[in-house]
Amino acid sequence: MFGMTDFIAAKRDGREHSREELAAFIGGYVRGEIPDYQASAWLMAVYLRGMTDRETTDLTLIMADSGERYDLSAIEHLKADKHSTGGVGDKTTFIALPCAAACGVYSAKLSGRGLGHTGGTIDKLEAIPGYNTEPDFERFADTVRRAGMCVASATASLAPADKLLYALRDVTATVGSLPLIASSIMSKKLAGGSDAIVLDVKTGSGALMKTLDDSLALARAMTVIGNMAGKPTAALITDMNDPLGRFAGNAPEVSEALDILRGDRGALEAAPDLREVSLALAAKMVELSGIADGNSASRMAREALDSGRAYEVFEKMITLQGGRLDEFEASLAGGISRRVIWNGAEGYVVSVDTETAGNACVALGAGRRRKGDSIDPLAGIEFLRKTGEYVKRGDVIARLICSEYGRERLPYAEELLISAYTVAEEKPSPRKMVYGCIGTDGEFREI
Ligand code: URA
Repeated sequence: MFGMTDFIAAKRDGREHSREELAAFIGGYVRGEIPDYQASAWLMAVYLRGMTDRETTDLTLIMADSGERYDLSAIEHLKADKHSTGGVGDKTTFIALPCAAACGVYSAKLSGRGLGHTGGTIDKLEAIPGYNTEPDFERFADTVRRAGMCVASATASLAPADKLLYALRDVTATVGSLPLIASSIMSKKLAGGSDAIVLDVKTGSGALMKTLDDSLALARAMTVIGNMAGKPTAALITDMNDPLGRFAGNAPEVSEALDILRGDRGALEAAPDLREVSLALAAKMVELSGIADGNSASRMAREALDSGRAYEVFEKMITLQGGRLDEFEASLAGGISRRVIWNGAEGYVVSVDTETAGNACVALGAGRRRKGDSIDPLAGIEFLRKTGEYVKRGDVIARLICSEYGRERLPYAEELLISAYTVAEEKPSPRKMVYGCIGTDGEFREI
């Protein structure tokens, strides 16, 4: 017979739970039979004591089975999912997925909203007038079949145990536990039903994990779970010490992704980091699906982008989901903007604290400070100076964008953004965008 007090004490004393005990806990908690105070005590014990790979995998599978699992078997193509641990300016989903789809690897992707200083794919798509982020399963699957991809909101029935536990972790200082993060993310990915999973684990000042060691540990934990659960899973470790690309914010990011997909030369020259990470992710999706090996997969992904085929995929998905791109593009002219002038010492930008930059974006209205806050889709930042670039007194380092009703937020966002920049005489060494990959064999290899 399951006793919650014994269960908490076992983890407190560093003992390993059996699969049956974990199932009894999750089942009892989801049914409302276990109170939050006991679940909180257990979460803290896990935070302090950790979990073995076997426990983490069992917990993940039990959470994945706590609700509906998407059955994508009626979509005949190979399907790969991609998940980013979150960052600032990360619009790679809008580039990598269309590239992979143009290579024959489809995506049925369930995404979330912005969290803290990081942006959310669903908020970004909702900047497109008419785009339906909550289609029923039939429509979702039909868009995947016809366009090669669909991105929609994760429904309440997907891994409900994670939703409950995540909300509790948020208020009990237990979000930052590696096995809890790994099981939270992977339970949703496994319930999503794809054949293969590519993880983009960000590392740096704007990431969930700030150091390379922590990012590698998270990537390792998640790839172990995916592969133990029978889904080929690999993780790229990519840089988040600078906003990705030149734009952060919902409509600004969709617009930048469209420019890259259309081959706009200015956007491609301004955002080589965005192109590089997106193509690396697309190539990994192609490779993991078994269509081509490393070099050929990279070449295929590049050709998909350069030929405009990836753009066609993305445009088709938006149209099938009811989105009106012409209206979206007309709406971009409606914002107001303020130039951020540099008044500090002359030199090279050696760092942009990316969490602070993300918070400046949230302050403009691109994210939520409290649950239920409304979003200003136009709000965001154009980064005119990034790490490694030279700045002189009087230069415009960024442009803040928002709707007219957000005008009073501009001074605070400006102050915050300026505080994110550090300038020094010496030019920093060039940033590496993709540190490497943890493959299905669990080995880390530099790329
Ligand atoms: N994203 C999730 O879905 N879960 C976590 O625990 C952290 C980030």
